[in-house]
Amino acid sequence: MEGANGEIGQELVDKANKLFSRRVDFLLSAPQLKFLPEPTVPEIAFCGRSNVGKSSLLNAITGRRSIARTSVTPGRTQELNFFEVGEPTQFRLVDMPGYGFAKAPVKVVERWKQLVRTYLRGRAVLKRTLVLVDSRHGLKPVDIEMMKMLDEAAASYRVVLTKADKIKASALTEMREKVAEAARKHPAAFPEIHVTSSEKGMGIDDLRAAILSDVEL
Ligand code: GTP
Ligand code: MG
Repeated sequence: MEGANGEIGQELVDKANKLFSRRVDFLLSAPQLKFLPEPTVPEIAFCGRSNVGKSSLLNAITGRRSIARTSVTPGRTQELNFFEVGEPTQFRLVDMPGYGFAKAPVKVVERWKQLVRTYLRGRAVLKRTLVLVDSRHGLKPVDIEMMKMLDEAAASYRVVLTKADKIKASALTEMREKVAEAARKHPAAFPEIHVTSSEKGMGIDDLRAAILSDVEL
């Protein structure tokens, strides 16, 4: 269970670790809305700016090195990629294309944006969205735009700082506080900010447990 202060119990952490160590399978890749799978189980979506580390975080959470494809080049993920967890399937994780990628053709960016927005706004089985933010850069206007869209859709989300291994502990603490303060102004944002490093495994256990508590709601 998640405590009032956002603290997560060891029991839930153990349960989540066990679950993710079992079955995780790639289901399908949806380049357009018509290819979305049937909404039969709860879903958790990973969104954020291009290159923020969405696919890497999905790999870290599932403990699979490269179930989701990652890249040093922004714009790697171009479709909604669905992964199933549990046997039988308990829920799905959805890796999304990044937003705010200036180098892609305008038309392509528009298409991704529409796909992501339509999914996030209208998916009945979507239990939670994870909004990933680079620890070094903090919230950018495109992140705020995404958060406002989720607020308006009443689609609740967790803000997750990524690549925490790339900055000093003091700067990280400062950034976490700054982002937490900004999140308080967003009605659909969880007050607790998750701090993670997919590279070092930091914050991964807690996020797994948080995901499990979200899908069990
Ligand atoms: P798009 O699919 O292009 O939107 O990117 P993405 O958000 O899925 O990012 P991806 O996981 O592909 O990671 C982008 C780059 O950041 C890769 O070079 C990763 O190795 C690196 N990266 C991701 N997470 C971490 C982390 O926790 N620490 C460090 N040091 N690098 C990371
Ligand atoms: Mg990706």
